[in-house]
Parts: sequence; C-alpha cells; structure tokens
Amino acid sequence: MRKAKAEFPDSRVFVYPGTFDPVTLGHLNIIARGAALCDRLVVGIAKGGGAGKSPIFVAEERADMLRAEIADMGISGQVEVVVFETLLIDFLKSCGSRTVLRGLRGAADFEYEMSMAAANAVLYENCETVFLRAHPGATFVSSTMVREIARHKGDLSKLVPPLVARKLHALF
Ligand code: COA
Repeated sequence: MRKAKAEFPDSRVFVYPGTFDPVTLGHLNIIARGAALCDRLVVGIAKGGGAGKSPIFVAEERADMLRAEIADMGISGQVEVVVFETLLIDFLKSCGSRTVLRGLRGAADFEYEMSMAAANAVLYENCETVFLRAHPGATFVSSTMVREIARHKGDLSKLVPPLVARKLHALF
C-alpha cells in the first residue's frame, strides 16, 4: 500500500523552523501571519540550534515558552510546536509538509535564507520556502540581542512576551 502522506505531502502544512532561544515578539508575529496562510503550522524547534549555536534554554523549555504563547494567542488548534534534531527536510517529510516558512528582516537575512532555501530544494525537490517580511517593529530584533539585553538587566517589554522576559531575568 502506498504511503500517501509521505509521497504526496500536503502543501497546506507549513513548517516554521528555528532555534527560538528564546522566542521573540517578531517570531510570534510571523507565526500568527503564517498560520493564516495554511491549514496547519508546525513550529519546529531545532534541538541543538542552528549551525554554530549553543542555546541557553534546553529545547523543551524553548518549546514550552512557545506553546504557552501560542495558547495565549488562541491558535493552538492550528499551530503545533515540535522539537526536531534531524535535517530540516526530513522533519518536513515527517510532518507531511513540503513548505518551509521563514521570516525576512532585511537584506542581511537574504543571502543566508536564499542559500538555505536552495540547499533544502536540492535535497528535497518538492520543497518550497515561503518568506514573510518581518513586522516593521521587529526588523532589528534577534534572540542574541534579547539575551544580551537580559544579561544587562535591560527592559525587554517591547521585544519578548512577559513570560519570556521573566524566564530570562530569572536566568541572569
Ligand atoms: N523576529 C525576531 N527575530 C528573528 C526573526 C523575526 N521575525 N526572524 C529571524 N530572527 C532571528 C532569530 O532570533 C535568530 O537570532 P539569533 O541568530 O540571534 O539566534 C536569527 O534571526 C536566525 O535564527 P533562526 O530563525 O532561529 O534560524 P537559525 O539560523 O538559528 O536556524 C535552522 C536555522 C534551525 C532552520 C537550520 O539551521 C536548520 O534547518 N537546521 C536543521 C539541520 C539542517 O537541515 N541543516 C541544513 C539546512 S540547509
């Protein structure tokens, strides 16, 4: 018998992958807008983080923060958070998806994102990458910047949700 899901992935399932160390308001904006474009959105948390990264929060903590925010946004019925530690394309296939969702903050993201999208398309020919422009208020935000501000006990209220700010302040 043919495995329909694996051979004919549902293009209406999008996967939004990242390190999310921690999730920011910029990521949540992409999740809300991305969820409106598909039937199901899987937020994939890379367990060890992207190349060269050493996350400060373990994957399940990052996932729990995301799940709490997604529940708060009232979209848990449509958005799922899953930790993965495989190649992204294999994670995509396991979700029955062929579509990666990524946010673009500006020109600095463009080259990296294009090469990642191209590599994924070479490894998995059905793979598409959909880009959403970052919210104008989040074009400068990164998880590294958020961690740095937290380390110096700065105000995080415009960058991350209150739960994430509390976790960061408790850590530093
Ligand atoms: N708002 C706020 N921040 C944003 C953002 C937005 N809209 N969009 C991107 N960012 C930031 C993130 O906070 C992150 O900041 P940081 O570098 O300071 O941590 C940065 O932009 C990009 O990180 P992220 O989106 O988490 O991607 P990544 O580069 O850490 O991870 C993976 C990329 C996990 C998708 C990639 O490494 C992967 O697919 N890994 C699996 C293994 C694999 O298949 N590798 C081959 C890929 S070709």
